[in-house]
Amino acid sequence: VPLQQHNSFGIVARAQHLVRIASEADVTALLADAAWGGAPKFVLGGGSNIVLTGDVKPLVLKVEIKGRRLVEETPRAWVLEAGAGEVWHDTVRWMLDQGYPGLENMALIPGTVGGAPVQNIGAYGVELQDRFDSLDAIDLVTGRAFTLDAGQCAFGYRDSVFKHAAGGVNGFGLAGRALITRVRFRLPRPWKPVLGYLDLERKMAETGNSTPSPTEIFDWICAIRSAKLPDWRVLGNAGSFFKNPTVTPEQCADIIARDPKIVHYPMADGSIKLAAGWLIDACGWKGKTVGNAGVYEKQALVLVNRGGPAHPATGGEVMTLAKAIQTSVYERFGIRLEPEPVVV
Ligand code: EPU
Repeated sequence: VPLQQHNSFGIVARAQHLVRIASEADVTALLADAAWGGAPKFVLGGGSNIVLTGDVKPLVLKVEIKGRRLVEETPRAWVLEAGAGEVWHDTVRWMLDQGYPGLENMALIPGTVGGAPVQNIGAYGVELQDRFDSLDAIDLVTGRAFTLDAGQCAFGYRDSVFKHAAGGVNGFGLAGRALITRVRFRLPRPWKPVLGYLDLERKMAETGNSTPSPTEIFDWICAIRSAKLPDWRVLGNAGSFFKNPTVTPEQCADIIARDPKIVHYPMADGSIKLAAGWLIDACGWKGKTVGNAGVYEKQALVLVNRGGPAHPATGGEVMTLAKAIQTSVYERFGIRLEPEPVVV
């Protein structure tokens, strides 16, 4: 089965076998199947955060579980549930349309609802963990259904229990083992806008509107993202290719002494977060191309597939470019950039 349509990088790779999962019962039936039940499996959502470096040998489970509903309404929150196969952005818009704001800062993030907790998606001052209630999943080894709350998901910056192998987070890791079926969101009432991000402050200044509605924030976020991030349907990519690294204040002072313009943000825990895009940009990578893989000209943190659907970059080309970037950032700043998407 070709996977080019199933990954936002548009990389050519094949799955030996792919099964579409439309319900919990589909998972149960698959696990009970004599031929396939015990086979190694790979769970695929929107394919917007993976780099395929070869054909996928495990059985690919394409999650297409649908459904959206209000679960609970209290004076302090709305709790809404969405199927893991729902498109993330459409779900954000649907909730707004229904009168349940809270996810608007995360508008236009590619991918599905089920992928959101895996990497704790976040943008413009809000992370999934800030709006998360719980999720349902099925253990692909035992077939058991289970529910996890936020604590059990062990959310971190672009990180969760779903990215760690068994024994990973406090002895508990679910990578490759869990299929997320449904996610519940807890949207605080009364709604409060999150406007601290520089790009949003600029929008407020530009429009003279300092009390935007949820829908206005949604529209601003869509405009901000469209201006600096490539649409994967036009130019294949997987969003930010590296995580923003954190350093100690001493390390940061050391870099500032050499590069006074470095973009850095103090974190609540005393560490300093650096803008990986700035580091890559400073090394001269913006707009560069190696083979059919390139560095986006408007945001150096995004690697893109310049070959189009006809001559797409291979996963190997993308990883070669990524390694060259890591080497030059390390040589100049002494910082090791860590890839953000899952390399398959
Ligand atoms: N910068 C440069 N040159 C560049 C790119 C960025 O100098 O080529 C500077 C910018 O001027 C800015 C700073 O770096 O001062 C930060 O850039 P930006 O606001 O674009 O955000 P980011 O840190 O690069 C992160 C997330 C994005 C998210 C945005 C907005 C990560 C790895 N990335 O990017 O998430 O949309 O903030 O919240 O944390 C993703 O994870 O795939 C993703 C797109």
